[in-house]
Amino acid sequence: MANILIAYSTTDGHTRSICERLKGVVEAQNHAVNIAWMSEQPDIDLTPFDKVVVGASIRYGKHQPQVFEFIRRNQAALESKPNAFFSVNVVARKPEKNTPETNPYLQKFLQKIAWQPQNLAVFAGRLDYPTYSYFDRQMIRLIMWMTKGPTAPDTVVEFTDWSKVEEFGHRIAAM
Ligand SMILES: Cc1cc2nc3c(=O)[nH]c(=O)nc-3n(C[C@H](O)[C@H](O)[C@H](O)COP(=O)(O)O)c2cc1C
Repeated sequence: MANILIAYSTTDGHTRSICERLKGVVEAQNHAVNIAWMSEQPDIDLTPFDKVVVGASIRYGKHQPQVFEFIRRNQAALESKPNAFFSVNVVARKPEKNTPETNPYLQKFLQKIAWQPQNLAVFAGRLDYPTYSYFDRQMIRLIMWMTKGPTAPDTVVEFTDWSKVEEFGHRIAAM
């Protein structure tokens, strides 16, 4: 049995939902899983964990600064254990941008960090226009209009392929 940490950053909670699904899959393989929100536990000690997974969502083209900080601070620990990284963004709803190799945010991210994750995944996220501020809603609607996505202001849509999340959970259990 391995003791696994999934550390994540989120703005609207969807990355947390993905972590919870991963936790369910990995625990079903008889491993222990701790989920830690970087905003709540930025200084969590990685020493007790056998494997570490980092997950983060994209907002206005970027992963949050706390993700870069977490990776920078824990690089040696991350490299000393089986490890993985996943990104959540809505560009990944497009079949031609939904793999680690083809997702532009993930590729850009990997160029910016010194850590080279052993396992990678990218998942399409969720849009919930009614809950966003006026500014954010208009901005995302504009981006969606430009990329041929949904623009109706009451749109709530989950693009996440949960079977892909579960498949990644099996990879985490086996890594
Ligand atoms: C204000 C805002 C900006 C966003 N910017 C981008 C973006 O630039 N590119 C993208 O692919 N997705 C973008 N998204 C979509 C998010 O990545 C998606 O909603 C994701 O599910 C958010 O995950 P979280 O709830 O864990 O933060 C944006 C969403 C919001 C609300």
